[in-house]
Amino acid sequence: MNHKISSLFDYTTKYENSISNPEDFWGEIAEDFHWRKPWSKVLDWNFEEPKMEWFKDSKLNLTENIFERLLSTHADKTAILWEPNDPNSDSVSLTYAELFEATCKFANAMRANGIEKGDRVIIYMPMVPEAAIAMLACARIGAVHSVVFAGFSSSALADRINDCQAKMVLTSDGNFRGSKQIPVKAVVDEALEKTTTIEKVIVLKRTGEPVNMKTGRDIWWSDAIADQSSENEAEVMDAEDILFILYTSGSTGQPKGVVHSIAGYMVYTYYSFINVFQYEESDVYWCTADVGWITGHSYIVYGPLLAGATTLMFEGVPTYPHPGRFWEIIDKYKVNQFYTAPTAIRALQVYGLEPIEKYTLDSLKVIGSVGEPINEEAWHWYHENIGKGRCPLVDTWWQTETGGIMISPLAGITPNKPAHASLPLPGVQPVIVDAEGNELLGNNVEGNLCIRFPWPSIIRTTYGDHNRCKETYFSTYKGMYFTGDGVKRDHDGYLRILGRVDDVINVSGHRMGTAEVENAINEHPEVVESAVVGFPHPIKGQGIYAYAICNSSTKPNAEMESEIKALVRKIIGPIAKPEHVQIVSDLPKTRSGKIMRRILRKVASKDVSSLGDTSTLLNPEIVEEIIKGAGLE
Ligand code: WT7
Repeated sequence: MNHKISSLFDYTTKYENSISNPEDFWGEIAEDFHWRKPWSKVLDWNFEEPKMEWFKDSKLNLTENIFERLLSTHADKTAILWEPNDPNSDSVSLTYAELFEATCKFANAMRANGIEKGDRVIIYMPMVPEAAIAMLACARIGAVHSVVFAGFSSSALADRINDCQAKMVLTSDGNFRGSKQIPVKAVVDEALEKTTTIEKVIVLKRTGEPVNMKTGRDIWWSDAIADQSSENEAEVMDAEDILFILYTSGSTGQPKGVVHSIAGYMVYTYYSFINVFQYEESDVYWCTADVGWITGHSYIVYGPLLAGATTLMFEGVPTYPHPGRFWEIIDKYKVNQFYTAPTAIRALQVYGLEPIEKYTLDSLKVIGSVGEPINEEAWHWYHENIGKGRCPLVDTWWQTETGGIMISPLAGITPNKPAHASLPLPGVQPVIVDAEGNELLGNNVEGNLCIRFPWPSIIRTTYGDHNRCKETYFSTYKGMYFTGDGVKRDHDGYLRILGRVDDVINVSGHRMGTAEVENAINEHPEVVESAVVGFPHPIKGQGIYAYAICNSSTKPNAEMESEIKALVRKIIGPIAKPEHVQIVSDLPKTRSGKIMRRILRKVASKDVSSLGDTSTLLNPEIVEEIIKGAGLE
């Protein structure tokens, strides 16, 4: 059965059907898969506990739906194409049959090293095919993977290991990233000094740099698979068993482990992949994300492979060794669908058209955007210069918690409107609410974005703390999933995402919690208190601006500022490093002691013409000082 939506009429019909008969709608799509035991009910749910069960009581293994299901037709088709960091090194191509063999071998290697169904495995790896193999091998044996972006610091890695009590880490000796070589194994060694649950570390040789291998704990990848059979009996899993945990930042405290379960995630990533990108059998698809983020999980690995697609993985960065690298790769592999982030577009826009003119880009059929609102200027630049005005541009709105794309044009099927994520996929029921939770009907309305009905890849829980999941997503507005985003439905009925309405900053498409950055800053012995806000940044979308109160007897401000930046980088990672740090003698506070972030945001945005009412402040005089300190008089 082909579940690709083929026309605007088909979209409308399917959309209506998905609302009036959601169980039939999803049940029919799920028929495409191979189930060890069929479901007793497509959906059981309530948003109060919350509890969502999709394809209830069924049994399956996700990897059987990539391999056993597809091998008779796809054995010799390329599954993964890999482009290394250095364009002069050899690329790699793996067929479905070869990927299956590699997955089985590595699955056996993990089992031989003590991993059983339900155990948590951390993947802290570069963008190499082995990262995908590791994820699939976990799914094969029922282990729960948690991929940690390899740019995170040792303490961020340790926090994640401790939170999910992981038993194994999969990593590499070092990573290549543009002109840099990053000593990843050393970061893992440092992290493991703060953890107690890791029994084994499997290390892929990538850069060849010397590393410490701890006897009894650390094993080379090549040794681990050396004697393993290329056959592996898949573990039979329940639909609602955990497939993976992925940590993401929220508005409070530590990052939370978003939990996705097997069957619903499988169905939704497959369905959304084929429909949004309109993938056709001979296409080459490329998503530039890292597997450390949800985009990499859903639209480099799981969605494309479940659809039998050829998915390209790129190890490097867009500007190495030259700013035409993306375009060079598109021509080299004749990429048909290209999916990237607005921040990458804006960063490349700076180099002008010259780096593009060397390439034809004529294989492209669809271009996509994800991670943050795409501004109109970047939308047009991307559409005209990369899509040559002929490729539909899919601006895909979704979240780690949604597992898959929720609101987006379907390429060439539903209309394109610059900077608009536009319409929900069939099966997705968005609602716009005001602050009190009243639904805002009709067009030309603006409010908070909620979803009123479950979709198969909805977050199931936050690992180890179900109440946090309930509080964060299901308590703000009763009976609805709250996204944390603001949205506008325009006069034509298209949705435009306006950005976060909570204390989350989106830096280059990566989510950072203000509290998380503040906690890191507060680790500095001379910092008394801090406040972090986002401000508009021409390339990153938003940048991080930190205010800190320090002990009086301290160093010059410039020194404190650079120490604070370095500290955040060390505690969280380079992506969290504040763009600006301003040392202040106090922070604007209300009489109840709450920091008035509104003022701090205005100053950070260099927009102090209308600061609003500051008369309720406990310390109104501080505002003048802060404005002065920011050089804004
Ligand atoms: C937040 C989710 C989803 C994969 C990457 C980010 C923002 C994401 C868009 C878009 C406007 C977007 C939202 C969302 N966002 N895509 N097309 N237009 N905003 O995943 O780290 O979980 O972040 O990214 O604010 O809530 P994430």
